[in-house]
Amino acid sequence: MTSDHYAVRFVLDGQIHHAAGERRTTTVLDYLREKLQRTGTKEGCAEGDCGACVVLVGQADASGHRIDWKPVNSCMQMLPTLDGKALKTVESLKRADGTLHPAQEAMVQCHGTQCGFCTPGFVMSMAALAERNSAPTRAQVNDALSGNLCRCTGYRPIVDAALQACAAPAEARSLQDARELALLKEIARPAKPSYNLDGDLIVQPVVRTRKGNEFVSPSSLAEVAAYLAEHPDAYLLAGSTEFGLAVNKRYERPASIVYLGGVAELQRIDETAADWRIGAAVALDRVEALVAKDLPDFAEVLRRFGSPPIRATATLGGNIANGSPIGDSMPCLIALGAKLVLHRRNAKGKDETRRVALESFYTGLKSNVLQPGEFIEAIELPRPGARQFRAHKISKRFEQDISATCAAMSWKLDGGKLRDVRLAYNGLSPFPARAPKIEAVLEGQAPADVSAEALDAAVSASFTHRDGLRATWAYRALVARNLVLRFVQPALQPERQTLEA
Ligand SMILES: Cc1cc2nc3c(=O)[nH]c(=O)nc-3n(C[C@H](O)[C@H](O)[C@H](O)COP(=O)(O)OP(=O)(O)OC[C@H]3O[C@@H](n4cnc5c(N)ncnc54)[C@H](O)[C@@H]3O)c2cc1C
Ligand code: FES
Ligand code: FES
Repeated sequence: MTSDHYAVRFVLDGQIHHAAGERRTTTVLDYLREKLQRTGTKEGCAEGDCGACVVLVGQADASGHRIDWKPVNSCMQMLPTLDGKALKTVESLKRADGTLHPAQEAMVQCHGTQCGFCTPGFVMSMAALAERNSAPTRAQVNDALSGNLCRCTGYRPIVDAALQACAAPAEARSLQDARELALLKEIARPAKPSYNLDGDLIVQPVVRTRKGNEFVSPSSLAEVAAYLAEHPDAYLLAGSTEFGLAVNKRYERPASIVYLGGVAELQRIDETAADWRIGAAVALDRVEALVAKDLPDFAEVLRRFGSPPIRATATLGGNIANGSPIGDSMPCLIALGAKLVLHRRNAKGKDETRRVALESFYTGLKSNVLQPGEFIEAIELPRPGARQFRAHKISKRFEQDISATCAAMSWKLDGGKLRDVRLAYNGLSPFPARAPKIEAVLEGQAPADVSAEALDAAVSASFTHRDGLRATWAYRALVARNLVLRFVQPALQPERQTLEA
């Protein structure tokens, strides 16, 4: 059921494109292939894993003078989320005079393509890298391409092509276009809320079906709260990396969808000497950059979260609200003592917030303390200060894989003894959680005196012994113990792997 009364407006190849009469859950990929016949963008998996569908989505950056282009899995994104943004597909890259983009040229010269199915996705990821980095290391290229799979080439020629593309002249690599920037400003969604004659907030739908089902894109917290007060069952959509699966694999079609990507307050990061306040809709690539200096282990856990196109869209609030037992940000946040700011409009029509420690947020498998109409506004993350912090994710593949378990621990050293220990895991219980019995074994101990046997007993007493798809209980228990030993005993710590290595 669609409606012709609403149109999604986005900038495509120097023009404003109007997409009218589309469903709320038409994916960007399907729209490109089926409506625009832009069949360069491919569907491999429809679940964010293969990268054949990567396109670039752009928004004006904070300065307002540049377009910030990010690689995005178009199979996971709903078309209405493009409203007010800019899009580039592989067809956009060739210049008017017929010259290829350096990424395309390099793929030809380095023999980076065989059957060609993966090639457009690789080219788009390379184009995004080449615009911001003229001399990446091989490790940085590997990271930038970790969300693109190729079953033919063996990758070496593709990595060579990326290195060559990045070395091209800046002008050839640039994706900036003053015309497109001006058009983006023209279609920007209004930042100020609208009211009806009774003074009630109106949240204008981007798409509204004849049945009355809606996709709305509010611009303020007040609008989100007002809409949820009226539609408590509405689906909150942030980075869409979970929702894309729900649409593509489980064919879910919620009646009302509230997109959080246009709410400026949810995109903010505020810093004080004591903590960071991270808006719930801040994407993980921004969180990674934020914590890189003070919490390198947390940044590394985030760098190994999905792939660059996933991290460019997936949000911190979405990871927490999704509440997966193997959610990766949560052990780090719990170990650091993060609090959530929860927001809702009360029965008297007033907006109110409350703070809940993340360790008390979950009540069971994929359930939490959120009330009807309540949502996560922000995450308050204490800076480590004098606390030490370590974290590590164990997965079958190093890149682009789901955790068998991820452990994170913070502590103070007082007179050579471990104090105020906070230890959290994912993958061992129905939701990411603290491990108080293991913390008790560590509390007051000198790091060198921590015994593997005492840890084993505490691990065994803390969790249900269950084999899972990703690992057996015996493996997880061993890893849970060994990670703690590595964290506290410097002699056992491996050298940190960095992108610069
Ligand atoms: C290919 C791939 C790789 C992945 N890799 C990892 C990984 O390595 N580690 C990992 O932990 N996860 C991984 N995920 C899972 C997923 O990316 C994360 O859970 C992600 O952080 C979800 O965030 P989102 O913004 O995309 O959420 P969405 O899909 O937009 O929403 C997810 C859920 O959160 C709710 N929600 C969103 N924002 C709010 C809010 N502010 N308040 C209340 N509810 C809200 C939504 O209603 C929905 O129920 C992966 C997913 C894919 C597809
Ligand atoms: S089709 Fe595989 S990531 Fe989108
Ligand atoms: S060239 Fe065939 S999948 Fe990459």
